[in-house]
Amino acid sequence: MKLNETMSTENGWNLNIEKIDQSKMITYGSNLLCGNGYLGYRGTLLEGRKEDYVACIVTDTYDRADGKWRELANLPNGLFTEVKVGQKVLNGIKDGATTLSFNFENGVMQRKTDYKLQGGILKITSSRFASFKQLNTLVASYQIKTDHNLTLKLRLGIDGEVWNLNGEHLAKTTFNNESDTLYCQAITTESKLEIAVASGYNLDGGIIRDKSFIRKDKELYLDITLQLEAGEKCIVERIMTVNSANDCEKPLKNVQKSIEFALDKGYQSLLAAHNLVWQRIWSKSDIKIKGNLEDQLALRFNLYHNIIATPAHSERLPIGARGLSCQAYQGSAFWDQEIFNLPMFLYTRPEIARNILKYRYHTLAGARKKATNLGYRGAFFAWISGKTGEELCPAYFFRDVISGRKIHNHFNDWQIHVSPDIAYAVWNYYLATDDWEFILNFGAELIFEIARFLSAHSYYKKDKDRFEFIRLLGPDEYHENVDNNAFTNYQAQFAMEKALYIYYRLKEDAPDIFKKIKDKINLKVFEITNWQEMAEKIYLPEPAEDSKLIEQFTGYFSLEDTTPNVLESRLIDKNEYWGWPNGVAVETQVIKQADLIQLFCLHDIFPKEVLEANYDYYEPRTQHGSSLSPSQYAIIACKLGNIKEAYQYFKKSVLIDIYNTNKAVSGGTFIGGIHTAAAGAAWQVVVKGFAGFRLRKNGISFSPNLPEMWQELSFNIVYQNNHLNIIINQEELKIRAIEIYNKVEIEVNKRCYQISGVDKVLKIKY
Ligand code: BGC
Repeated sequence: MKLNETMSTENGWNLNIEKIDQSKMITYGSNLLCGNGYLGYRGTLLEGRKEDYVACIVTDTYDRADGKWRELANLPNGLFTEVKVGQKVLNGIKDGATTLSFNFENGVMQRKTDYKLQGGILKITSSRFASFKQLNTLVASYQIKTDHNLTLKLRLGIDGEVWNLNGEHLAKTTFNNESDTLYCQAITTESKLEIAVASGYNLDGGIIRDKSFIRKDKELYLDITLQLEAGEKCIVERIMTVNSANDCEKPLKNVQKSIEFALDKGYQSLLAAHNLVWQRIWSKSDIKIKGNLEDQLALRFNLYHNIIATPAHSERLPIGARGLSCQAYQGSAFWDQEIFNLPMFLYTRPEIARNILKYRYHTLAGARKKATNLGYRGAFFAWISGKTGEELCPAYFFRDVISGRKIHNHFNDWQIHVSPDIAYAVWNYYLATDDWEFILNFGAELIFEIARFLSAHSYYKKDKDRFEFIRLLGPDEYHENVDNNAFTNYQAQFAMEKALYIYYRLKEDAPDIFKKIKDKINLKVFEITNWQEMAEKIYLPEPAEDSKLIEQFTGYFSLEDTTPNVLESRLIDKNEYWGWPNGVAVETQVIKQADLIQLFCLHDIFPKEVLEANYDYYEPRTQHGSSLSPSQYAIIACKLGNIKEAYQYFKKSVLIDIYNTNKAVSGGTFIGGIHTAAAGAAWQVVVKGFAGFRLRKNGISFSPNLPEMWQELSFNIVYQNNHLNIIINQEELKIRAIEIYNKVEIEVNKRCYQISGVDKVLKIKY
């Protein structure tokens, strides 16, 4: 199926790019990323250089080279492979006809280039993947075929001249070789982390006429002069292995060992092992759509990217807001992690959701430090959270592009909702898995510290006898310094209630653990009294009697009422930042992203008429300047039965990266790369939106409403360790129990059913 002039898919798994557009190299690089949660290797050509945005971003390599932005290091490119014929270095973008394709089923990228040379045609075909079996290993197969006798020079090696967003991360780079395998060692500039890269090859075909090493400042290559006969095919298998001292004691030793192993196994055998891992993943997390191939592909594209962005191998690392596709957003977690990335894992591979939440537990120290620094108790989780959980968000995030002056944003100190968002995710994890043991060991402490922080941050208004939250930034980042952001207040109240529930249940059921936690965090009885009072008296903005509207924050309705289009016309420079303190949106009701609608996605507490009134009000005022926004509107549009609009928002969300619709630079800061929150949200739009899946107090529910052209939708849900397969078409919903341990209560369109026993099928006609 043709997606547009240059892109197509045959089966909803692969994306073919028939004609490379050089200006889109930055997009291809992110979209065609080979990754495995440990590293991400951008979808560039193997002969690509720094200016093509080649990058291999590795988890847990944080470094603050420029004194401002702590980001992941981009490691030297050990897959570098180039062909030279005569004096001409061949470049697949400039000199040949190149097509690219990517298979999201196993994360394999392919490239084909035909070069017209003086003597005839030279064909290059290559494929590569980031092994999901050996996470530190990248594997490529590079085939050269000629229709005429040819002598060429193959340059293989490590290119250490890499693309960096903020400063030079690698210092003291040294290169070595052990016979034909090349090594690079370096130390990161500020964090002084040792890293190592190995680069090796297996060669099959051609006659080697000469070999020599080429050393440059940050590069080491092996040049092989190769003679090929007409019709002959030569295959070069390329392996790159990477490690840092955060992964193992001796990175160099480790890359040596792993490259030997990989060279010995070879491409096909490594691929087979890698494919098995992907098969297992997809058997749990795939979603099948019958009826529209573009939707199928776009959905899988997003699921793939959510999977490869997630460091499932560790419980101590965050999911970056741009995953491992580049250095933007500092390879760090935002609230995106719990609210956007996590749900797909929670309901398909809950052990990974557990990992993600444990990361927050392990970073409590950073969150406590942030709270203390700002004068609060408890855990104020970082807006931008790396390895330690300390705040990485610089005070000056954007720049005024007109004056060139720095903008002092308050994402780092006023955007408090990330803490209750984490409590929300912990609670949902518990409901979805029944893993009370997690609450005992990790969740209770997390939620207590969050409650403590919220209590410290809240402001008691005596005359109104209520607790407020003032000087905030809600999800809508354009309006800073607001009071009582409805989303934040409701989330805070939810967190306080859960803290109290856990407190009393623990006290009753697990007195030893209760005492241990209480002593550990020095929790006092008076604090619980405060929480109690606060939970009852947090100000929760209610829908107005007549209009049913809820004010996004105090005073919002008094701001100028206008639309994003009007504001667009007021811009002096198209790259201007729209928000605080002087941006075009600040004094208006135009919002960056779903805010109240975001609240509706997380809580089913309002009747339909309230949802409807607020959706109609906020929708035309939302710019969707954040990739987090369209998916949330899609989910609520589904709830309102407005499937046409929901479908448009679904498209807007799932196509953000494929069609590169969001800007890569805002207020002078690079924010390009894969939008992993949107990637995670794709799962939610389909499952929570079109299938209407919800977690109930006891059990789960569905209220399906498929887009017209979808004949069938199928996916799996894991609920409290019961594995269910759900198939939905326009007439009925079918649930099959794949693995079941207890009776599951399922509500479909408000009627209750039960399922128990393996292979039992429940068919419900609408
Ligand atoms: C959004 C935030 C989001 C961040 C990272 C910003 O543009 O406004 O809500 O957390 O990007 O994705």
